[in-house]
Amino acid sequence: MKFFIDTANLAQIKEAQALGVLDGVTTNPSLMAKEGITGKNNILKHYVDICNLTDGEVSAEVNAVDYDGMIREGEELAELHERIVVKLPMTQEGIKACKYFSDREIKTNMTLVFSAGQALLAAKAGATFVSPFIGRLDDVSTDGLNLIQEIREIYDNYGYETQILAASVRHTMHIINCAKIGADVMTGPLSVILGLLKHPLTDIGLAQFIADFEKGNK
Ligand code: G3P
Repeated sequence: MKFFIDTANLAQIKEAQALGVLDGVTTNPSLMAKEGITGKNNILKHYVDICNLTDGEVSAEVNAVDYDGMIREGEELAELHERIVVKLPMTQEGIKACKYFSDREIKTNMTLVFSAGQALLAAKAGATFVSPFIGRLDDVSTDGLNLIQEIREIYDNYGYETQILAASVRHTMHIINCAKIGADVMTGPLSVILGLLKHPLTDIGLAQFIADFEKGNK
């Protein structure tokens, strides 16, 4: 399973990269705004900074909602760095743009996916990644993990190579359950990735080892 970090915060990306388990970064316009990155040039520069901090794929989202605008913006983003993945909204215009980029071997990530039908269309358009937002489905009392399962089954039925990127991951059990179901990638905040490390028995055991070592070496 690939691990992506879902942030535009450079310090957190650096910290995740240093762990040695990071495979990429996802961002979106809200995450950029959260870091105070505004204006086209600053945003483009920030994507390059992110690429320089990691050796994985970096999803960079278009802001246009029309086909021509998405193509223009996507091409500009793809030019920034060889590891940029053009992130497109799951709309009629977005699907057309996805096909345009996949025909030109530019990687894509279809975002704001909330149904198996949307994921099927994304695969048919040749998307590299499809991003079902599982936390936001859970927010409206719909099982986000069930959607991952449905997409897995559909993609396996036809051998689609589009990678299932579980997004809007909110807690460690999301990651574990996505891994059990067979999501190809998960993207989540640093706190959730680090949360996988935690176990009280590890802390208690280590404290005991340290105490015993110190006793024996006095
Ligand atoms: O990866 C998508 C993500 O940024 C959305 O997360 O927590 O705002 O639903 P959230």
